[in-house]
Amino acid sequence: MTDSQRSAKLDIEGQTLDLPIMSPTLGPDVIDVSKLYGQGKVFTFDPGFTSTASCESKITFIDGNKGELLHRGYPIDQLAEKSHYLEVCYLLLYGELPSADQLEHFENRVTMHTMLHEQMMNFFRGFRRDAHPMAIMTGVVGALSAFYHDSLDISDPWQREVASIRMIAKLPTIAAYAFKYSVGQPFVYPRNDLDYASNFLRMCFAVPAEDYEVNPILSRAMDRIFTLHADHEQNASTSTVRLAGSSGANPFACIAAGIACLWGPAHGGANQACLEMLEEIGSVERIPEYIDRAKDKDDPFRLMGFGHRVYKNFDPRAMVMKKSADEVLSLLGVENNPKLQVAKELERIALEDEYFASKKLFPNVDFYSGIILEAMGFPTSMFTPIFAVSRTIGWISQWKEMIDEGNVKIGRPRQLYTGETNRDYVDVEKR
Ligand code: CMC
Repeated sequence: MTDSQRSAKLDIEGQTLDLPIMSPTLGPDVIDVSKLYGQGKVFTFDPGFTSTASCESKITFIDGNKGELLHRGYPIDQLAEKSHYLEVCYLLLYGELPSADQLEHFENRVTMHTMLHEQMMNFFRGFRRDAHPMAIMTGVVGALSAFYHDSLDISDPWQREVASIRMIAKLPTIAAYAFKYSVGQPFVYPRNDLDYASNFLRMCFAVPAEDYEVNPILSRAMDRIFTLHADHEQNASTSTVRLAGSSGANPFACIAAGIACLWGPAHGGANQACLEMLEEIGSVERIPEYIDRAKDKDDPFRLMGFGHRVYKNFDPRAMVMKKSADEVLSLLGVENNPKLQVAKELERIALEDEYFASKKLFPNVDFYSGIILEAMGFPTSMFTPIFAVSRTIGWISQWKEMIDEGNVKIGRPRQLYTGETNRDYVDVEKR
């Protein structure tokens, strides 16, 4: 909100502009530059939005220096320890923790929407078998808007709500089907008597030929992965969803845009890239060579799973994930897995290294989540789809917050143009 008492003064070649200062409930003050062009005929320049707040939000707060992540005020470690994914979904979407009745009602609604329209199966079968599951997810989630016409009108709060519940419910089914399709196994339909995480594991790993029982420790670890990735304020994919939504695009199209953005290796693709890097390093003896490469300015190589745009301290999600990784690996008896050995030693060396310490590069959430997912039996290509399933609630909550506020202004950044100035067309024979 704007603090009427305070303003920042900007001197532009003799003209002084008063820019209102906005006070957040947490975090640094924000200077309102929305009228800057009108008053001073200048734009601000901030590639990568490193100093720009693109919206007002009440959902998630991160203090990167303290290593703090709050959802609606609740610390992520408490939520990961005491809550579970669907309760966190409710919290993100509606702003408060649910009562027992509200939670039961919400879980029931989500459960009743887990199946896909049967005709969507044909859609999956149209892809090549070797398609990346993220490519399939981007396509299939976008195609939801071709199947659920009764939840496309964003001006109707009821339709917004149904679209939201549908996506929370259907994303695990879509991700599991993308996986099943890629390994040539039949699709496994969702089961309404299972919780969210167990149902997902069953849809991924059950086959019609035999019974499949979900191990509760694995299901808890899966739920924790979903919870830890649920939202992360205005990251690249969430900003993509907001930008797409600002044009009035339907919610399924907006989430498909978010999935496309998440795919990149600097964002959600990092967990896959991290595991591939651990595989490439191969043995503890080769770690110094890779540490040297990461430090070399002329080498584009980066230690995947290290560093974060916002966290300049330990990522609080990484701490919980590390504990979860230890639990899962000891349950599965794979503590001696070579990739894990490399990961542990890499973490130890990097945390002691002056280069990483001075640049405040700590292991991020993706460093550990990939190790857990691999131990559970997921191929690396499924890591980012699982991130997409988890983050769907964050995207939806942020999209809903924006639309609920009303008067949405289409997102339209300006630019610093450095191209040619006005010049006349030259006929082809004269060039
Ligand atoms: N390995 C080696 N050097 C690094 C790394 C790394 N992983 N990350 C940053 N640096 C260096 C970088 O070279 C730069 O050095 P200098 O100041 O000398 O030019 C300095 O640290 C700052 O880096 P930056 O690229 O300006 O920082 P950023 O905030 O733009 O980038 C990042 C953040 C996450 C893209 C980057 O740290 C990175 O590429 N990490 C590896 C990929 C990764 O693990 N991504 C997952 C992020 S967490 C999941 C998510 O939120 O999606």
